[in-house]
Amino acid sequence: MSAGNLRINAERLQCRLQALADIGAIDGGGCCRLALTDDDRRGRDQVVAWMRELGLQVQVDAIGNVFGLRAGLRDLPPVMSGSHIDTVRTGGRFDGNLGVLGALEVVQTLNDAGVQTERPLVVAFFTNEEGARFAPDMLGSLVYAGGLPLAQALEVRAIDGARLGDELVRIGYAGAAPIGVYQPHAFVELHVEQGPVLDAEGITIGAVEDLQGISWQELSITGQSNHAGTTPMRLRHDAGYAAAAVSHFVRGLTRDMGAGQVATVGKIDLHPNLINVIAARAKLTVDLRNTDEALLQQAEARLAEFLETLARDEGVEITSRRLARFEPVCFDAAVVQQIERVTQRLGYPQRRMTSGAGHDAQMLARICPSAMIFVPSTKGISHNPAEHTAEADIAAGGNVLLHTLLELAQQEN
Ligand code: GLV
Ligand code: MN
Ligand code: MN
Repeated sequence: MSAGNLRINAERLQCRLQALADIGAIDGGGCCRLALTDDDRRGRDQVVAWMRELGLQVQVDAIGNVFGLRAGLRDLPPVMSGSHIDTVRTGGRFDGNLGVLGALEVVQTLNDAGVQTERPLVVAFFTNEEGARFAPDMLGSLVYAGGLPLAQALEVRAIDGARLGDELVRIGYAGAAPIGVYQPHAFVELHVEQGPVLDAEGITIGAVEDLQGISWQELSITGQSNHAGTTPMRLRHDAGYAAAAVSHFVRGLTRDMGAGQVATVGKIDLHPNLINVIAARAKLTVDLRNTDEALLQQAEARLAEFLETLARDEGVEITSRRLARFEPVCFDAAVVQQIERVTQRLGYPQRRMTSGAGHDAQMLARICPSAMIFVPSTKGISHNPAEHTAEADIAAGGNVLLHTLLELAQQEN
C-alpha cells in the first residue's frame, strides 16, 4: 500500500484511550491524574510501556517530560508530536491524552506498514500541562522551550504544598536527559477542541492558527472575622464579600469588553468558612484570557483598579500573586496550511480556528514551526468527566495527524 492510502487503526486508538482512562478513573467517565501524583505516575508508566512495545527509544528529561524516538532514515532534526497526560481533578479522558496516544497510533501504523520516514519522529508528553496542581500551566513544555529556568521550576509548590522537584523524584520521573534534548524540525499537537465551535457547526477538523493569551493570578484578601449576628454591616471587613465582589466584577468586565474577553474565578477558599463567622481571609484565583494582548492588558489593569477601590471600601487588604502570564500565540502559517491541505485531501470538513485553551504547542512554537489539529468536543464540554469526542472524529483527527507528520518527516529543510 502506498503511504498516501495509510489510515490509523481507530479501534486500537480507542482501546488505548480506554486503558489510560482507567488509570485515575472517576465517576462520570472522566479521570483525575493531577500532575506528579501516584495516578500520574501510573499513567506515565503505561504510556512508557507502550512506547517501548513500539520500539521507541525513551528518554525522560530533568523536568519529567517524556520522549519516544522512532529513528528516521537520516539523522535530521525530528518531527515531534504529543501533548500531556496529566488532568485537572475533574478531567475528561481526551484532553491531552488524545494527542499523546494519537501520535503513538501514528507510530504503530507506520511500523505495521513498514513505512520509514526521512526524519525521526518523536512522541512526547510534557509535565504539568494543566497547571491544576502546580502553576504555571504548560510548565514542562515552557521549561523545554527555555521560557522558565529548570531550577526555578523545580522549586514550584503544589496547591498541597509539595515541591515539584521532590514529587518528580518521588514518582521516578526526574530524568537524566537534558532540557531541550531534541530541537524539533516541527511540532504538531492533536487535541480535542474543548469548546463548542466544531460541534455546533458540524465540522470535523479545526486547523488551529492561533491561541489566546492567558493571565492567571491568585488574590489573597485579609479582612477581620467577627460575629455574623452582632456586627453591623458598616463595621464589617468581610473577605468573603470581597471575594464574591471580584467574581461579580470580572463577569461585568467581560460584558463590557465583548466576546473576546473571558474571565473565571475558579477557586475560592474562605477562612474560617463557617456559617456564622464573617470570613477573615479569602484566597481566590482569577483566569483572564483574550486573543488580543492589548485587550488582555486592559482587562488586567481594570481588575487592578477595581481591587484598589474594593480594598478601600471594605477595609480589607488585597495582594496579588501572578501564577501564569502568556501572550497570545500565532502558529506557523506553513504548518497550518499543510494541515489544511492534508484535511482536504482526506475529505474531512474543516475550518481555521483559535484555541481558547492553553496547550503545549504554544510553548513549542517558541522553538520550532508548530500548529494544532482540533477535533470536536461534544457540546463543547471539557475539564469535566462528561468530555466526549465521537469515535469517527477521533479517527479523522488521527488520520490528519498521520499524514501531516508523514509529510513533515519527508521534508528536506
Ligand atoms: C490549560 O489546559 C488551560 O487552558 O487552562
Ligand atoms: Mn490539554
Ligand atoms: Mn486541560
